[in-house]
Amino acid sequence: MSGKGQGKNNFYITTAIDYPSAKPHIGHAYEKIIADVIARWQRKKGRQVFFLTGTDEHGQKIEKYANLALKPVQEFVNGLSLQFIELCKALNISNDDFVRTTQPRHIKTVETILKKIMDKGDIYRGTYKGFYCVDCESFYLEKDLVSGNCPVHKSAVSWIEEEGYFFRMSKYQEQILDYIRANETFIFPKLRANEIINRIKEGVRDLNISRSNFKWGIALPDNKGHVIFVWFDALLNYLSGLGGIDSDNFNLFWPADIHLIGKDILWFHAVVWPSMLLAADIALPRSICVHGFINLEGEKISKSSGNVVDPLELVRKYGADSLRYFLLREISFGEDGNFSETALIRRINTDLANDLGNLVYRTITMVEKYFQGKAPVSYAALIGEDLLDQANKLVYAVDAAIVEYKFSYALIKIWKIISAANKFIEQTKPWILHKNGETEKLKDFIFVLVRLIHYVSENIYCFMPDTSERIKQQLNANCIKKEKPLFPRINLD
Ligand code: ME8
Ligand code: MG
Repeated sequence: MSGKGQGKNNFYITTAIDYPSAKPHIGHAYEKIIADVIARWQRKKGRQVFFLTGTDEHGQKIEKYANLALKPVQEFVNGLSLQFIELCKALNISNDDFVRTTQPRHIKTVETILKKIMDKGDIYRGTYKGFYCVDCESFYLEKDLVSGNCPVHKSAVSWIEEEGYFFRMSKYQEQILDYIRANETFIFPKLRANEIINRIKEGVRDLNISRSNFKWGIALPDNKGHVIFVWFDALLNYLSGLGGIDSDNFNLFWPADIHLIGKDILWFHAVVWPSMLLAADIALPRSICVHGFINLEGEKISKSSGNVVDPLELVRKYGADSLRYFLLREISFGEDGNFSETALIRRINTDLANDLGNLVYRTITMVEKYFQGKAPVSYAALIGEDLLDQANKLVYAVDAAIVEYKFSYALIKIWKIISAANKFIEQTKPWILHKNGETEKLKDFIFVLVRLIHYVSENIYCFMPDTSERIKQQLNANCIKKEKPLFPRINLD
């Protein structure tokens, strides 16, 4: 088996690849933001990071929505895929590549791996009979349906009876069960591992990996009447995005350190994907991390009910960092969370405008007013030593939190320092120091404040990279000048 031959220092993180069947929604934004925090943090710790995201462009679902839009399928996905790329840019996502499953590099990788698995004898012909939900792109057993409908979409499923090709997935059932049990951190959170263990124990069936009643997919090399089942195709993006299994990047970065996904696609990542890799003699990924779902004002996001918010629109209105902060602060990793614009505005007004924005603004105002824009240096250590001490240790708390995916907790810790710094201003009453001519103390006070803000900007970097940068720029300037507040308050009416 291949492994990270050349660098333990290398780190590979992926998100799921999104269906460009419609515009991106807030769930897509959420997943990319989390992956970005981890990628930035790993880079900051000195690791060589490869961060991959992309779009999943084949299959019946895509074909269906292209038909509804009256567009040729390739043209349809080209347009929508661009919106996912735009979303990454707008959110300041630091992905190293963006893989599209209609790219030649991907198709080539799928063909290579399929051949390896065929050569292994793990593909056989058979007849598939069962239910299918196009929106899930999943096969269902009768017992899993809810009143005869798809358990996820609650919509009608179709009955399919097709001649096709099967992947001998059942063969790997025990190996995968052992792997999950032996590797405590393979599936995170633990609750999800238990869920999968129970499902595997119910029995793993061989997987139908071909479809013949529509055309939009990668043709089966030996039988052009069939296209490869979209999941068998899509999962391979994690290899094709590196450039395939003969690439330098594969040697450098495989196995993946983290596949970040939502809870609805865990079976494909924890059972189907590892089985495919075992069959192809490729090392298994180190971990699969599962986030929860975002609901809108308490309701499931659903195109049919028009219940979607456009994350690009939110970024235009409120800025990338506000949205990043909100989602990371408001939702505990692994749990479902709620999005509402009102709650976002509240967080902007309190945590961002009042707490962080004001701290920076007040400090800069004082540097301008008391020291003509030149931040004083003072080693007098007259006041605020304990605060500096706390802020200095902040990085350890943030590191520990990120390792455990406790993003919200990390932000709470950082905001404790921000509040303490604001309190420090109120308690020190610098305007009185100024009036009384206590210049040394005033210098020391401002010096401490500026350093506190530096610590804050360092520690928010992975979460809010742009704000971190803006704060640094404002404070590092030769002559510090007040600029627009970092976060203008927003009227809630
Ligand atoms: O599942 N909240 O694509 P997708 C949070 N193409 N996350 C959500 C969400 C929500 N409301 N809705 C979806 C696919 N997601 C496949 C993946 S990977 C080889 C192929 C998450 O566009 C979802 O869980 O339906 C998944 O991780 C990602 O968004 C893409 O979902
Ligand atoms: Mg989905």
